[in-house]
Amino acid sequence: MTTENNFVIEVDHLTVSYHARPALLDVSINIESDQLVGVIGPNGAGKSTFIKAILGFVKPDVGVVKINGKSAQKAKGEVAYVPQRGAVDWDFPITVEEVALMGRYQQIPWYTSPAARDREAAFEALKMVRMEDFAKRQIGELSGGQQQRVFMGRALAQGSDILLLDEPFAGVDAATERAILEVLERAKQAGKTLVVVHHDLSTAAEYFDKLILIKQRLYAYGPPRLVLREDLLSKVYEGRLRIFSDVLAKEES
Ligand SMILES: Nc1ncnc2c1ncn2[C@@H]1O[C@H](COP(=O)(O)OP(=O)(O)O)[C@@H](O)[C@H]1O
Ligand SMILES: [Mg+2]
Repeated sequence: MTTENNFVIEVDHLTVSYHARPALLDVSINIESDQLVGVIGPNGAGKSTFIKAILGFVKPDVGVVKINGKSAQKAKGEVAYVPQRGAVDWDFPITVEEVALMGRYQQIPWYTSPAARDREAAFEALKMVRMEDFAKRQIGELSGGQQQRVFMGRALAQGSDILLLDEPFAGVDAATERAILEVLERAKQAGKTLVVVHHDLSTAAEYFDKLILIKQRLYAYGPPRLVLREDLLSKVYEGRLRIFSDVLAKEES
């Protein structure tokens, strides 16, 4: 596969297993640049695994992932990642500005300290998530939503054009949800491609340009109105029909 196109992420026949049980099975998808893409599917569907496979954190049994036309290994640093909140040790003694500066480590050679421009990039990123006033605070002292924004700041500080976020809206209040969405939209306007795991079907159509519907296999990829279809959703979310009717009603109005 060549990249005579604007696909920034190419996934070709990807299968990933844990202990010989496939979490993802034969997933192929090409993602275009400059858009906000949501990844939906029930618990255990393989959404986080999909993100980790793009990052090169898990090894495929079969299949290839390319970032900007290169292997995940060669493209290290071209993808930034915001992990699920539960995956971070919030008691770790580190300040907000130090977390943001971690986003620069790939650019900082091991034998030097961060340069002024790294500190500037980290501070600019904190401004983008509106956390610059908290720069000296310990991350453990922040609210969940503020912690989430700091980790988005770390990813933005990296300067990558591709951002992968795993459930950034999980467990935040409505005001924080709007603040996070605003950051995602500004990042898109700045030319970034964002792939965001999202668990709330009722906001999926409103928030994202395109949706990826996944449950071990890829069920659909496209504009929300083509993905949030009753036949597809009932296949993927067996037995949760009431939720579908809400989502579908919203889509039609
Ligand atoms: N590190 C792991 N070791 C073993 N099984 C795992 C591991 N990570 C995920 N799984 C399994 O793989 C499947 C997909 O998990 P995951 O990608 O986390 O799904 P999602 O993010 O959609 O909830 C689940 O059945 C999960 O239990
Ligand atoms: Mg997950």
